[in-house]
Formats: sequence, C-alpha cells, structure tokens
Amino acid sequence: MDLWNDIDGYLVDALLAPDAALESALRRSADAGLPPIAVAPNQGKLLQLWARMIGARRILEVGTLGGYSTIWLARALPADGHLTTLEIDPAHAAVARTNLDAAGVGSLVTLLEGPAADSLAALDEPFDFTFIDADKPSNPAYVEHAVRLSHPGSVIVVDNTVRQGQILQAGSDDPGVVGTRALYELLRGHPRIDATAVQTVGSKGHDGFVLGIVS
Ligand code: SAH
Ligand code: DHB
Ligand code: MG
Repeated sequence: MDLWNDIDGYLVDALLAPDAALESALRRSADAGLPPIAVAPNQGKLLQLWARMIGARRILEVGTLGGYSTIWLARALPADGHLTTLEIDPAHAAVARTNLDAAGVGSLVTLLEGPAADSLAALDEPFDFTFIDADKPSNPAYVEHAVRLSHPGSVIVVDNTVRQGQILQAGSDDPGVVGTRALYELLRGHPRIDATAVQTVGSKGHDGFVLGIVS
C-alpha cells in the first residue's frame, strides 16, 4: 500500500539518521540476490531500542539473512556484549559476514551456520534478548528453546506473526500459518512467558510481531 510506504518513508526521514553501513548491507544483500525481507529501518530501530531498554548484553537471533537486523541489534550492545545469530543458508551467511564486518560489529557477533534447531540445541548460554525471524513453521520450537535459554526478565520477539491476516484461517494447510497459530496456542498457556502481539503496517506490508517477557 502506497500510503503505508510513504508514511514509513516520512517516519524514517524524520527520526533515523542516514546510515551508510545499514544502506550498504541492504545493497549488498540485494546485489547477491537475497530476498527483500529484512526488517524495515524503523522496525530495526525498534528492536535496538528494546534491547537497550533492558540493557541487553547477550542477544540471540534466529534467521540472519544478510545481517541487517543483526547490525541494528549488535549496535545495542555494550563493548563486552555478544550476539549469536543462526542462519541455514551458506550464501546468506556469507553476505551477512561481509555486512557485519563492514559495519564494524563483526567482533561482537558469532554467526552459526546450519539449521537453527541444531544450533539452538547446542547452546546453553542465557540470553537477555532473543529475536526469532527464520522459518515460521518452527516458531513454537524456537520459542521453547528461547525460553530455555532465558532468565527471568529476558525478552523474546517473534517477527511476522500476522502475515496479512492469514493467521485467521483455522483450516489453512500453509505451514507458516499452521506454525504461527501453534505459536499462539503455545503462548496462550505458557507458564513462563507473558506476551502480547501487535499488527503492523508499513513498507513491509501488513504483518505483526509478538513481544514477550520470560519469568
Ligand atoms: N532477520 C533478518 C531476516 C531473516 S529472513 C533481517 O530482518 O534482516 C529469514 C532467514 O532465516 C533467511 O535467511 C533463511 O535462510 C533463514 N532460515 C530459514 N530456515 C532456517 C532454519 N531452519 N535455520 C536457520 N535459518 C533459517
Ligand atoms: C518472509 C520472512 C520474513 O522474515 C519476513 O520478515 C517477511 C517475509 C518470507 O519468508 O516471506
Ligand atoms: Mg521477518
């Protein structure tokens, strides 16, 4: 929708300083043929602000793509902080490594290449903040891992949890819809996460996110 896109343009111009590293990351990603599904700039900044609000020192990201959201989040970290990001596609991981190094955050980031389920199973460090943004059918499993890797007060964010309203289709056989509905079922009764979900519109269309805190 043109109006949503134009408003995002206005908001980004108003509030976000032009940033060569972030713009280069998107350009390199596009040049390498990666899909244009990184978070929008104002969404990346929202992630960064949330991480700063809780003083996050250890951040986990599931789904790196070209490292665009990774750069936003890594910049929330103190100098001795750390971000671990998980990516299954070697071509995406290669672009991300270039982008993270060019942005000056490579030394703060560990990129684990392979299926996120395998990488998550091997992690045991507690994280302060987790951003889940990979294959949507696995979201319930990723949230369970994120809770296991959390401490009281850790924050979990899940991207793309509305998908233009497709989540209303109870009989859908779309694995992304089935996975997202299963995510809400998991959250509904979860003993350790208190969560909300919010719809968004903007340059990335009509979608939404889940935000939760772990007890
Ligand atoms: N967070 C990024 C966008 C991620 S797009 C940003 O906003 O900039 C989703 C990414 O998840 C893709 O790069 C895709 O290759 C990756 N992915 C898909 N399935 C995965 C899996 N099973 N394990 C790890 N990564 C996966
Ligand atoms: C898709 C994935 C995303 O993480 C996103 O933000 C938008 C779209 C997708 O797989 O289509
Ligand atoms: Mg996403």
